[in-house]
Amino acid sequence: MAACSKRLQEVRDIIASAHKDCSPSEKLQFYDEWANQYEEDVSTLEYKAPRLAAASLASVCTLNRESKLVLDVACGTGLVAEELQRCGFNLFHGWDGSAGMLEVAKNKQLYQELKECMLGQDPLPSGSGGLICLTTRGNISNLQYKAELEKAMSDLQNKGFWEQISVQEVEQWEKATSEDEVTQESDYIPGIIYLYRKTASSSTVH
Ligand SMILES: C[S@@+](CC[C@H](N)C(=O)[O-])C[C@H]1O[C@@H](n2cnc3c(N)ncnc32)[C@H](O)[C@@H]1O
Repeated sequence: MAACSKRLQEVRDIIASAHKDCSPSEKLQFYDEWANQYEEDVSTLEYKAPRLAAASLASVCTLNRESKLVLDVACGTGLVAEELQRCGFNLFHGWDGSAGMLEVAKNKQLYQELKECMLGQDPLPSGSGGLICLTTRGNISNLQYKAELEKAMSDLQNKGFWEQISVQEVEQWEKATSEDEVTQESDYIPGIIYLYRKTASSSTVH
């Protein structure tokens, strides 16, 4: 496997600083600080998640996409909504725990609503029924976060606040975020796309 470029190593170092054991609030602080550099850095990683998530949602929603509200959960800077717009979707509400990431998303003027919301801790924004799209990495250093996220989503499902449409695992999500995860076969790490449907009235703490 070829040695990685200096730029790729810099991005890996940045991500490693967020993946070390830290509290949810420290993680969000990391995203606040990363927000303005985030898109350039993930493009170095050949981050495919937004395009793959949009394709997944488009495959289950083939009709009248322009009138379907998409709840972009952990929307970050809005990369998923940008891809969804290319697929014909046009109505977006974004939720994210990081005010810094939301600020970048807001400047794109893609979303009808943006809310600061920490999934698993804060009450869900109420009133908006729609298709929910959420993604996360499937690599080893993200496994604990992934488990916490899945628990929060499963609690919401068990309480009837939203229902699952699909969970799709993708092998080539982005370039490995650490040298340890590079194998003989691949220098990419996997990821997961979660699609849910939320009814209009659901609002809850978990
Ligand atoms: C890797 S970024 C992905 C952003 C966007 N979906 C994309 O594909 O570019 C992860 C985002 O999730 C947010 N986040 C992390 N944990 C969260 C949680 N529990 N609730 C809400 N947002 C969260 C972070 O603030 C960050 O914006």
